Parts: sequence; C-alpha cells; structure tokens
Amino acid sequence: PSLQPYSTFGLAASCDSIQSFSDVTSFLSIFKTSKNNNKAIYILGGGSNSVFTDDFDGTILVNEIKGISHFDTESHHYLRVGAGENWHDFVTLCMKEKWYGFENLALIPGSVGACPIQNIGAYGREVNTLIDKVECVFLETGEQVLLGNEDCQFGYRDSVFKHALANKVLITHVNFKLPKHYELETSYGELAALTEPTPEKVYSKVIEIRKSKLPDPAELGNAGSFFKNPVVSKAVFQAIAQDYDSVPHFVVHGGVELPATEKEQIKIPAAWLIDQAGFKGKTLNKVRCHPTQPLVLTNLGGATGNDVITMAKDIIASVQGKFGIQLEPEVRLLGSKGLISL
Ligand code: FAD
Ligand code: EPU
Repeated sequence: PSLQPYSTFGLAASCDSIQSFSDVTSFLSIFKTSKNNNKAIYILGGGSNSVFTDDFDGTILVNEIKGISHFDTESHHYLRVGAGENWHDFVTLCMKEKWYGFENLALIPGSVGACPIQNIGAYGREVNTLIDKVECVFLETGEQVLLGNEDCQFGYRDSVFKHALANKVLITHVNFKLPKHYELETSYGELAALTEPTPEKVYSKVIEIRKSKLPDPAELGNAGSFFKNPVVSKAVFQAIAQDYDSVPHFVVHGGVELPATEKEQIKIPAAWLIDQAGFKGKTLNKVRCHPTQPLVLTNLGGATGNDVITMAKDIIASVQGKFGIQLEPEVRLLGSKGLISL
C-alpha cells in the first residue's frame, strides 16, 4: 500500500502493510506478528513529522487510541488523552471548555501521542510545561509504565523518547495538568502586540500567524520545520555577529552538564542561516525551500526521496561552509529499513 496519504510531506513511497490499532492488546498482537515475520515496524500518528524517502520494508502501525477524560481540583484541570487524538482538535476542545494553556500551540498538525516525543513548541510555549505524566507500553514485553514529567527529560525538540526509549515504547496516553491560575504567554513577536490579551485572542492570533507563514500540508506537502534551530556558544555567535549587522538570536540556558561559563547559549534561527545561504525560494527538481519560511521544505508534487535528501544535504553543507554551524534535521527521515540520518 501507498504511504503517500499517511505522511504530510506526501512522497510516493509504499510499505509491506499498514495496520491501525485502537487499543494496546491489538497493538501488541500486530507487533508480535511483525516481529515473528522478521518485519520492521514503525509507529505513526498523523505523519506530520515523518518523511518516507524510500519504500519501507515493514509494517506501519497507525495509532488510533482515542478518548479524553477530565477532572478538576480547586487549583488544576487534569486531562487524560488517548495518543491517537488529533492535536489541534484537542486544543480547540480545550479552548471551548476554558481549559487554558494550549493556546500558543494551536494548529500544530499531528497526534497527541507524538507531542511529548519532540516536546512540541511554538510562540513561546513548549508542551512539557503542561505535561503531567506519559503512559507507555514497552514493545518487547508489553509492560505498562507511567513516566512523570521529570522522567521524560524534556528539552528543546527533545525528550527521553528520542534517546533511551527510542523505538522501545508505544505512548498510549498523555496526561496534562493545567493550572487554573494560568499565565498567558505573549512575549513572542506578534503576540506582544495584542491589546488586552485573552487565551481566545492568543489562540486566534497564533492560527492567523501560522496560516500566513506556513504552507498548509493539505495544499502543499511539507513536514513543518525541516531543521532544528541550532544552539551555539556565545563565542560562535559573537564571531558571526562581527560579520553581519543584525543576527536574530535568543539567549537560552544550556544543560546542567555545561560549565558555568558556558551556561548561557545562543539560539540562532535556522531560517535566517538558510536565508543568508541563498536557499530561500530555491527549487531542486520538485522540492522547494519555502519562500516565506525557508526552514520548511515543500513537495511541489512528485518530489522523490532523493530530491529531498539532496536538497537537505546542500543546505547543511552551505550553512556549514558559510557559518561553521551544523544544522540537524528536525523531521524523522525514513529509508527502507527505518530511521536514517543525513
Ligand atoms: P508522526 O510523524 O506520525 O510521528 C513522529 C514520531 O513520533 C515518529 O518517530 C513516530 O514513530 C513517533 N510516534 C508517533 N506517535 C507515537 C506513539 N504514540 N508512541 C510512540 N512513538 C510515536 N512541531 C512543533 O513542535 N511546533 C510547530 O510549530 C510545528 N509546526 C508544524 C507545522 C506544519 C505545517 C507541519 C507539517 C508540522 C509541524 N510541526 C511542528 C511538526 C509536527 O506537527 C510535530 O512533530 C507533531 O508532534 C508530529 O505529530 P504526528 O502524530 O504527525 O507525528
Ligand atoms: N527568518 C529569516 N528569513 C525568513 C523567515 C524568517 O531570516 O524568510 C528569521 C527571522 O529572523 C525570524 C526567525 O527566522 O525572526 C524565526 O522565524 P519564526 O518566528 O517563523 O520561527 P522559527 O524559529 O523559524 C520555530 C519553530 C516552529 C514554530 C515557530 C514559532 C523550530 C525548528 N521551529 O520556527 O516550529 O512554529 O518557531 O514558534 O524550532 C516545526 O517545528 O515544524 C515548526 C514549524
């Protein structure tokens, strides 16, 4: 079967079989059968961060675990959400119910189950600030585990699910905890200009900004940001700032493992680096670096996996040559056997 409708980038790739599941028992049974047949497996939510560059030699398991439950205390709303729920529909429901906190994260495609994996973030808010616990099942043993927020080791576009637990667990439910005395996050660019901001105004503004900048996958295949924004030392940033008049940047605080003198680090928008490297609007066969957001690569229709890989490698090499910064993909790239790196 074709994987094209299952991935928002929409490359023409196929796989051995596609099977959906709506509970853990059926997931484990499909997993066991695939394993007994020596077939690779790949868990898929909405396919908005997965780019199939080749035919996949295995089984795709599509998560359709549904259900949303809610209770509240004097201070908090608690939500338990099936991993197969659609993220934006869930955010919209929360807005209707006045369970605030998700407004900055409106219109991000994909499933609830994928949100902890790369710790989705936008317009000044990351989802880890709202996650209480993540419910998982170990693929090999079927053992169920409940990970607390700290256990998930969240970082910028990062979590334990990309490291120690990569390819080891299925996320079945995400539990959120929303303080009733919420604080609005309006520091980011255009949000700061809102007069008397409310969660509803932030939600609508975020949707408006996103529609103006980002291509709609229903009209133009893409997987959002193709690369992560690089985080560099102050020294690297200062060297670049000497050569360029105004380098956009954000100060971030690095991990505990860094020595005190290097704790303060600088995030430089990859969009700016790619723009400066001359790729904005550039096309290679049927892949284009998006004209209003060069961090996004798009499929003009009929792009191949090779086109995508070639374009991505060209961008990485150019940015490396010009700035000495190594861009890393933000998307999950898949080849015939599973995840690949560039
Ligand atoms: P998929 O592509 O289906 O899966 C992503 C990864 O998670 C895969 O490795 C998959 O194996 C794994 N996975 C999925 N579900 C499970 C599960 N239940 N258990 C275990 N593993 C699982 N991201 C942001 O952070 N911020 C943005 O602003 C943003 N904007 C975007 C805009 C556009 C137009 C697009 C197309 C994408 C954007 N993204 C953004 C990226 C994407 O929406 C997120 O990464 C999203 O969380 C992916 O969800 P998905 O269900 O589609 O993931
Ligand atoms: N820029 C340019 N040229 C351009 C466009 C942008 O130089 O043509 C520079 C500008 O300096 C701008 C900066 O890039 O200020 C940042 O652009 P933007 O605000 O659009 O955000 P981003 O850093 O490119 C990140 C996330 C997005 C998220 C937005 C909003 C990553 C990898 N991407 O993009 O997430 O929606 O911030 O918060 O962190 C995604 O992950 O798929 C995604 C879309």
